[in-house]
Amino acid sequence: RFPTAADGSKYVAREIDKLVRARNAAGKPTVLGLATGSTPVGLYRELIRLHKEEGLDLSRVVTFNLDEYLPMPKEDAHSYFRWMHETFFNHVNIPWGNIHVPDGTLAAEDVDRFCADYEKRIRAAGGIDIQILGIGRTGHIGFNEPGSPRNSRTRMVTLDGITRRDAAPGFFGEENVPAQAITMGVASILDARRLFLMAYGEHKAGVVFKALEQPPTEAVSASFLQEHPDATVVLDDAAAAELT
Ligand code: F6R
Repeated sequence: RFPTAADGSKYVAREIDKLVRARNAAGKPTVLGLATGSTPVGLYRELIRLHKEEGLDLSRVVTFNLDEYLPMPKEDAHSYFRWMHETFFNHVNIPWGNIHVPDGTLAAEDVDRFCADYEKRIRAAGGIDIQILGIGRTGHIGFNEPGSPRNSRTRMVTLDGITRRDAAPGFFGEENVPAQAITMGVASILDARRLFLMAYGEHKAGVVFKALEQPPTEAVSASFLQEHPDATVVLDDAAAAELT
């Protein structure tokens, strides 16, 4: 628990910095699972600063993003592909070939094959070392909306109405928010060796309480983090306000 979101984000950036430097020294890659949205912006800003000012070399980093809207052209102003490049990738030295974001341009008949392949690529990279997560007001991690099974894998999902309403301002109206997405599954996320879930602001306090202090349930996919051996939840005071 940190006084501000900036403090929490700096803590997570330092943990990533430590792992990447240790792996670089051993000549080994670091595999990061990444999220979009408002929550990780401060984390990416701090990682960019560490790269530019403190010599953090990200050239051996491999990344897998959690999700992407479907359908969604890569160059669209709303695509997570574009957002990740503008917010982070364009400012650091991760080789472009090491970057993986689910493909929002797929035809329906190609989605299942793509999703199975995404899982294979994560395994072939050695699995995710550190997974970054935010939490939606539905309790989703990635786009694993209520009802997502504990054993779910990368797949196409239908977005919850609350999630689409929360995204609506950026899309000039809920009717413009895509109804579907590709997301890593709950099991794909829990396979990561280490997880950091960040939540900042009073609007997250209710769902943070459900995720942390009520028994794990498909109704709140973030609650499954309770069963992970190395999951850290990073909160500001406002998001922690309803915890006992
Ligand atoms: C984004 C993602 C989502 C967000 C969540 C919180 O890639 O997977 O689970 O982390 O919707 O979004 P913000 O941070 O905008 O409140």
